[in-house]
Amino acid sequence: MRSRVVYESMFGNTAAVAEAIAAGLRTQGTVEVLTVAEAANTPAPTVDLLVVGGPTHAFGLSRKRTRLDAAEHTDKSIAVEIGIREWLDAALPVTTGRRAAAFCTKVAKPPWLPGSAAHGAGKRLRRLGYELADDPADFLVDGMTGPLADGELARAQAWAERLAYTEHDRLAHRH
Ligand SMILES: Cc1cc2nc3c(=O)[nH]c(=O)nc-3n(C[C@H](O)[C@H](O)[C@H](O)COP(=O)(O)O)c2cc1C
Repeated sequence: MRSRVVYESMFGNTAAVAEAIAAGLRTQGTVEVLTVAEAANTPAPTVDLLVVGGPTHAFGLSRKRTRLDAAEHTDKSIAVEIGIREWLDAALPVTTGRRAAAFCTKVAKPPWLPGSAAHGAGKRLRRLGYELADDPADFLVDGMTGPLADGELARAQAWAERLAYTEHDRLAHRH
């Protein structure tokens, strides 16, 4: 099975979750991990499963304004021009039967905020014609810049292993 993980990350937490997800997917085949900026610049062949994730900003997917806000909180250079929202909004619809899943990171502790970038990504993936392989998954960070809450990397990897197993099984029964 071939999978691709496309992610956006300001402080590195969603990047770490994306790598854990890739490790989980790798139990059933090959996986490519791309930042959203790389994905936007790289026409890529169709895969069996596309997994898309980003940080929750202002209750949903980031926007240029929120990415600029994030850039104020780190010395790292952050790509602000394109995020998951813009990438999916510019993507072409897909043919029936393509499979995808969505994830995000969001804060765990008070002040707890509603909203999930994973839901925003999942909604857009469905609108493009993807079938969602699972409910959008939220992974928790302990503060705006992280770190990830205890156990979240393991939970992300386990989530992806389950996804990979199910999708692999579906493919096996299709042939
Ligand atoms: C501008 C901005 C807005 C945010 N808004 C929310 C929010 O509405 N809900 C939430 O749970 N977390 C919010 N956060 C925290 C982010 O979810 C957190 O920074 C992110 O999960 C860290 O992932 P990253 O290291 O991959 O950027 C916000 C962070 C920033 C910078």
